[in-house]
Amino acid sequence: MSLTFTQLTPVFAAEASSIDLRQVRDRETLDAVRAGMDRYAVLVFRDQRFTDEEQIDFAQRFDGTLHTRTSSAVLAQSRLGTEALADISNVDRNGNIRAADDRQRASSLANRLWHTDASFVDPPGRYSMLSARVVPEVRADTEFADMRAAYDELDEHTRAAIDGLRVHHSIAYSRHVLGFDFTDEEKEKLKGAVHPLVRTIPGSGRRALYLASHASSVIDMPVPEGRLLLRDLIEHATRPHLTYRHIWRPHDFVIWDNRCTMHRARPFDDKTHRRELRRTTSLDLPLPATA
Ligand code: OGA
Ligand code: MN
Repeated sequence: MSLTFTQLTPVFAAEASSIDLRQVRDRETLDAVRAGMDRYAVLVFRDQRFTDEEQIDFAQRFDGTLHTRTSSAVLAQSRLGTEALADISNVDRNGNIRAADDRQRASSLANRLWHTDASFVDPPGRYSMLSARVVPEVRADTEFADMRAAYDELDEHTRAAIDGLRVHHSIAYSRHVLGFDFTDEEKEKLKGAVHPLVRTIPGSGRRALYLASHASSVIDMPVPEGRLLLRDLIEHATRPHLTYRHIWRPHDFVIWDNRCTMHRARPFDDKTHRRELRRTTSLDLPLPATA
């Protein structure tokens, strides 16, 4: 199957040519998607009419083991019946739009901070795959930032200064910033993880900053200095020329590489307009053996 990509910004992100990922099973095409990910870091596929089951099947076929230790699983059982599918919606189990003081809503507001998925677990997330099921009539975009380009644009002094640093990522921290607190029992299940601040992506050989709103401290640095450094780097990485803003259409399917991008939801009136997406995220484990 011939698959081509059209780049969406001068820096990264691309739209794939017409293809039905539900039907894609051959290694050659899956490898072409992977090669596209290594090059562009964010890929947009239009008109992918996945059921929940088909989305989980594709995600596993493409990249192996899926992340299930989500923060929402700690708050309440998912209405979707599986933790392999993150419910990126503003809807409760009765199909009603969540109220302003709903706990799941309060926690999910942190998606509006720049972040990567599942950096607070080990192994962390590799690819996130987000399927748009119900798109509101108002704009409710998702923005992405290329952390390889951000690394490339660091001066030599900063590169040397951050070399070898390790960062603690905690989902309790990113929620706490917005005034949301987990109970002690919930926190116990969300202990966080430590990851290098600079990662080399095997498929492209490129170096990337690994940062997120979950990044709470730099190991071996005093907390204030570490937090200031992380803030500076996030500011550097999210300057407009390094970002892509996705305007959703129904049945869009967007895959991003969490190892070398950050993303955030843009605000919209979520107490009025229904928005429903489903996310599968693979874990950054050794790649499935190729036949
Ligand atoms: C996600 C996420 C942003 C959005 O699905 O991981 O952060 O715009 N989504 O819903
Ligand atoms: Mn996310």
